[in-house]
Amino acid sequence: MISQSESKSSQETPVLEIKGLVKKFGQRTVLKNISLCFAKGKTTAIIGPSGCGKTVLIKHLICLLRPSTGEVLFKGQRIDELDESALAPIRTRIGFLFQAGALFDSLTVRENILFPVRQHQKGPAFKDADDLVRNKLTMVGLDGFQDYYPANLSGGQQKRVALARAIALDPEVILYDEPTTGLDPIRSDIINELILKLQRELAVTSVVVTHDMKSAYKIADRIIMLHDGNVIVDGDADHVKNHTHPIVQQFIHGRLSEEDLASLNVSSF
Ligand SMILES: Nc1ncnc2c1ncn2[C@@H]1O[C@H](COP(=O)(O)OP(=O)(O)O)[C@@H](O)[C@H]1O
Ligand SMILES: [Mg+2]
Repeated sequence: MISQSESKSSQETPVLEIKGLVKKFGQRTVLKNISLCFAKGKTTAIIGPSGCGKTVLIKHLICLLRPSTGEVLFKGQRIDELDESALAPIRTRIGFLFQAGALFDSLTVRENILFPVRQHQKGPAFKDADDLVRNKLTMVGLDGFQDYYPANLSGGQQKRVALARAIALDPEVILYDEPTTGLDPIRSDIINELILKLQRELAVTSVVVTHDMKSAYKIADRIIMLHDGNVIVDGDADHVKNHTHPIVQQFIHGRLSEEDLASLNVSSF
């Protein structure tokens, strides 16, 4: 039976929505026809092999890429046709932690966190700026690191500072692109815990691109797998684990296909 609150939330306008998204680069169609809704407060993991279009997909959610055809909506408003100046206020509501979105090496942790704030506002008063930085660093467990430069932090700490920067403007949505890549299992798990904490304490809606299945199972309410430009799985962790599609099973268990083995010219054990 569907409870009242569930039926109400299912009627709520999705925070983000993609309708009939096709993305081509030249002759190549990377995303074929994707329609997805992202509900408020939920964490969705997007999985799939390298090069399948995960990053391309989430870049559409903040219009860093524009659809070849199709639409992107934020809280019911179409955003894919907006120009950069009209997008600016919307982008303040969507934080992102991108693979290439490294910290600015020449800026301290404090200045890195304040960077998006200064871009979008005149800049808070000095005292407020201190409070803001302390608050965000406390959230990621790094209060006290304000005056460090990125070079003096570990890879995991740098990701946490990048996360503090992503939440500097109190976004409603956070997009993560491979947040645990390059980290050892313990540091990866700290990031997983932080993603869960932000969802719990700030009620953010999150979309997390990952090829780390352990992370996907731990953090996600919903897992979407892309393959060959389409969504081939969309459901919770159990749905994915029990999915019978061979491509899905190969991916989640990290196995090569017969075809991959043949191309490597090695036999299966
Ligand atoms: N700006 C671009 N121009 C041309 N091709 C691109 C561009 N961005 C991504 N691609 C191609 O789109 C495909 C999907 O890329 P991407 O989304 O980065 O994959 P991943 O799933 O590993 O994140 C790749 O083949 C990539 O080369
Ligand atoms: Mg990628």
